[in-house]
Amino acid sequence: MVSHDALTEIPDGLDLDLAAVAYDPLTTAHVSLHGVGGLGTWPDTGVDAVGDEVVLVTGAAGGVGSMVVQLALRAGARVIALVSSDERTALVPKGAEVVSMQDSARASELAASPVATLLVDTVGGARLAERLAWVRPGGRVAVVGYTAGTSATLDLPNWLLGDVAVLPVNLLRRAGEGDAVVDELTALLVAGELAVTLETFAMSEVEGALSLLGAGQVRGKAVLHPSA
Ligand SMILES: NC(=O)c1ccc[n+]([C@@H]2O[C@H](COP(=O)([O-])OP(=O)(O)OC[C@H]3O[C@@H](n4cnc5c(N)ncnc54)[C@H](OP(=O)(O)O)[C@@H]3O)[C@@H](O)[C@H]2O)c1
Repeated sequence: MVSHDALTEIPDGLDLDLAAVAYDPLTTAHVSLHGVGGLGTWPDTGVDAVGDEVVLVTGAAGGVGSMVVQLALRAGARVIALVSSDERTALVPKGAEVVSMQDSARASELAASPVATLLVDTVGGARLAERLAWVRPGGRVAVVGYTAGTSATLDLPNWLLGDVAVLPVNLLRRAGEGDAVVDELTALLVAGELAVTLETFAMSEVEGALSLLGAGQVRGKAVLHPSA
């Protein structure tokens, strides 16, 4: 017996694998950009239109990151997508400037002359503190996750000088914001206007799938097929 509250109707035409993984990236990316990041409406950056926003995204090959790339581009922002290595660049949706952290020259350039007005950070970790300096003064960082580590240390004098707001993204508290947009975003997914990359695994492959997940090597979201 399953409670009615635990069930979700899957829209016609939505692939079951996608249905299993899409809710999180769709809602988290939207809330990060709009509810938290105030895309196009953030007063301190001196921009008053989405077209003037430069959105920097870490973990841009991941579930949330790649959706942030797509939604920010659809909204009309310029997008710079960061990935950890050259081999992850192909997983980033088209339309963004993709920067591999192995390209130290471009990474140094981005740090030396910050162009981003909004950073959506899906990886966290100690290097989050460095990335604050990649955002223009008056800009903001929406912190989503911590796959690269659970802590970061702020150097208060430099943080005050940098003048960048650090904002938490909490989808538990903001679930209503996600629920309000999920049907509209799912329709775009069904129409093929948004995409969530996923890799499927049979139950017999679960051990390997978990190792790949732990090493950050799954291509997109991982879906396990219980009956396979
Ligand atoms: N705050 C909230 O309310 C909320 C809501 C939803 C999700 N989240 C969190 O947001 C984060 C991103 O979610 P997601 O679905 O996008 O995850 P994901 O698809 O598994 O991974 C995102 C990116 O993180 C990097 N990564 C993965 N494993 C790593 C590791 N072991 N060490 C360092 N980097 C690693 C990878 O970057 P590269 O591809 O560049 O290597 C990957 O593309 C997760 O921590 C998730 O728990 C938070």
